[in-house]
Amino acid sequence: MERLEAAMAKARAARKATKEGDAPDHEPRQASQPETEPARAAPNARPDALWSGLKEISISNAQARKMRLGALMGAEFAVPYDILRTRVRRQMRAEGWKRLAVTSPNKACGKTTVSLNLALAMARQADLRVMLLDFDLRRPSLAGLMGQQGGAYDLAALLAGERDFSEHAVRFGPNLAIGLNRRAVPHSAEMLLAPSTASVLDEIESRFKPDVIIFDTAPMMGNDDNLAFLGQVDCALLVAAADSTSARQVDSSERDLSGLTNVLGTVMNKCRYLDERDGYGSEYY
Ligand SMILES: Nc1ncnc2c1ncn2[C@@H]1O[C@H](COP(=O)(O)OP(=O)(O)O)[C@@H](O)[C@H]1O
Ligand SMILES: [Mg+2]
Repeated sequence: MERLEAAMAKARAARKATKEGDAPDHEPRQASQPETEPARAAPNARPDALWSGLKEISISNAQARKMRLGALMGAEFAVPYDILRTRVRRQMRAEGWKRLAVTSPNKACGKTTVSLNLALAMARQADLRVMLLDFDLRRPSLAGLMGQQGGAYDLAALLAGERDFSEHAVRFGPNLAIGLNRRAVPHSAEMLLAPSTASVLDEIESRFKPDVIIFDTAPMMGNDDNLAFLGQVDCALLVAAADSTSARQVDSSERDLSGLTNVLGTVMNKCRYLDERDGYGSEYY
């Protein structure tokens, strides 16, 4: 913990030293310089060719229903995610933000469910390139949600520069690229804070040129992963579970989150009154 705080303080001091003029609440991220070439050198391919070269996957209707992928089921199931998508997009575009973290006060609030639905809703806009990365390194679960249990997806190898994103990522439809993970990372905060993580992300962004990158991250409480990572994003959404997150937990997580990045709002998930038929829904404020 002390090492992390020292590293955060050092990073903050470095940013201050390069700052010009008045700083906004959260200074814009600085693109880091890759320290080393990635293991497999980036082909000089155009972004379109890179996207179409990613391994394509599909999600069955049964999987979509089982995992509450309302954004894929369409009709009224998609509406809350369409609204969330449009509000988030408007705000991010107005600010020129690209990187969005999805977090929650504690576990099982629906971060992964909301992240994937939001990414799917965004990707329905054909002119957007959307990326979704499983950055909850302690409890990776996006692969399971998408029915992709088979692959040996190793995010730690990607972040260490040992594997190229073009080999690691899968593609759903033409414009949604997803970085999955099947292995929990033991020293997750250290990995998130490592210079190689920052340079790998910058390199992915500069080659693939996504319009939005959504990070499904760890919960705010009970670990230091977001303290380590949120300096790498532009903004965040907090997902709270109506049936299990207390108002105090929401308040304190919002406060902590706003000390780390720009908070777009809180999604109240698992709201029974919003959908009487299956008893669940989401609301954004
Ligand atoms: N709106 C919802 N209504 C009911 N259950 C939900 C809803 N969203 C998510 N869940 C369920 O809650 C559990 C935790 O969701 P998940 O997205 O994995 O949370 P997290 O990523 O925050 O741990 C899963 O079993 C998921 O199916
Ligand atoms: Mg999760």
